[in-house]
Amino acid sequence: MTQVVQLEKFGLDGLRPAQRSLADPGPGQVRVRVGAVSLNYRDLMMVLGLYNPRQALPLIPCSDGAGTVVAVGAGVTAWRPGDRVMGVFAQDWLDGEVDSRCGRRTLGGPLDGMLAEEVILPDTGLVRSPDSLTDAQAACLPCAGVTAWHALVAQGGIQSGDTVLVIGTGGVSLFALQIARAHGAQVIVVSRSEEKLARAKALGAFAGIHSGTTPAWGKAVQALTGGRGVDQVVEVGGAGTLAQSIEAVRPGGRIAIIGVLSGVSSQIDLRRVLMRSVRLQGLFVGSRRMLEDLGRAVDATALVPVIDQMLPWDAVRPAFEHLASGNQFGKVVLAR
Ligand SMILES: NC(=O)c1ccc[n+]([C@@H]2O[C@H](COP(=O)([O-])OP(=O)(O)OC[C@H]3O[C@@H](n4cnc5c(N)ncnc54)[C@H](OP(=O)(O)O)[C@@H]3O)[C@@H](O)[C@H]2O)c1
Repeated sequence: MTQVVQLEKFGLDGLRPAQRSLADPGPGQVRVRVGAVSLNYRDLMMVLGLYNPRQALPLIPCSDGAGTVVAVGAGVTAWRPGDRVMGVFAQDWLDGEVDSRCGRRTLGGPLDGMLAEEVILPDTGLVRSPDSLTDAQAACLPCAGVTAWHALVAQGGIQSGDTVLVIGTGGVSLFALQIARAHGAQVIVVSRSEEKLARAKALGAFAGIHSGTTPAWGKAVQALTGGRGVDQVVEVGGAGTLAQSIEAVRPGGRIAIIGVLSGVSSQIDLRRVLMRSVRLQGLFVGSRRMLEDLGRAVDATALVPVIDQMLPWDAVRPAFEHLASGNQFGKVVLAR
């Protein structure tokens, strides 16, 4: 048996501790003792029933976790007990271009996630944790970190001297800030909080714009870049921010469409997109390979994920409430 938290009905009230039976790992499987999970906005949407109202329940939530291998099944050669590992968000997306199967088997819905004392995963569903990180820090990488890496590196081909615009100061955005800095790029941050902007500058952002006092922040970004515009935008705002992101990007620049925090649909004047050859690229987290690449980069550059709050394992509801508040700067983590 293993202790889990499972979602029995949609809503924060539906999160309940429970016992699940856990068999020995079968051929090709690995049993992992989970040391920490991090929460993503997606996990909150999943719990509230807004991500997939047809999700079968009960569900063990949370896609992102890290821990230690405790047992391996027959034929497993890649892992040994004691290895420190992270779960792979999209269990069937090992490498290469995305296709229609990549998003079908993802942890934390539709598959059970990592909010459990122990989990069993296929041996390909794990990646070695960076040596430089604790479990709590490594647990931040599989969704938020990989999404930022996918946008800026795997798709964006970021280069030294580029300028990157990140929106907000949540998990994806701060990884984007740190990954951009590690590649020698400059970063501009747009946030709804002066205090968070000051913290983003302390992390290496060269400028911050308060979206409340400067609602036309696209023009402000143009001014900060001498009229050139930014090379890349990590767009997590969605409907309420896309028009300003289009204003902020340089001709031929790229906007990674990642999140829809302020809504899913809006009217966009496409003339600026086509006249300036702007590239709009939707993207869905990333592959196992991207998590491996990010893990090596984290070790090589001493990147330390920004954890806003680290809460004890049984503080699941307060952790989700903190995420829902939008007050966080970086990641919210539950650790043993
Ligand atoms: N496409 C994908 O594969 C993928 C992967 C990961 C995440 N996402 C999506 O990306 C978004 C961010 O995810 P996350 O996990 O980084 O979230 P998060 O950690 O909860 O961060 C959210 C941050 O965004 C800012 N924000 C909140 N509401 C906003 C609004 N209405 N308009 C503009 N900014 C707002 C806030 O920063 P400030 O207070 O500084 O403004 C907040 O701290 C979510 O929509 C999530 O579903 C998509």
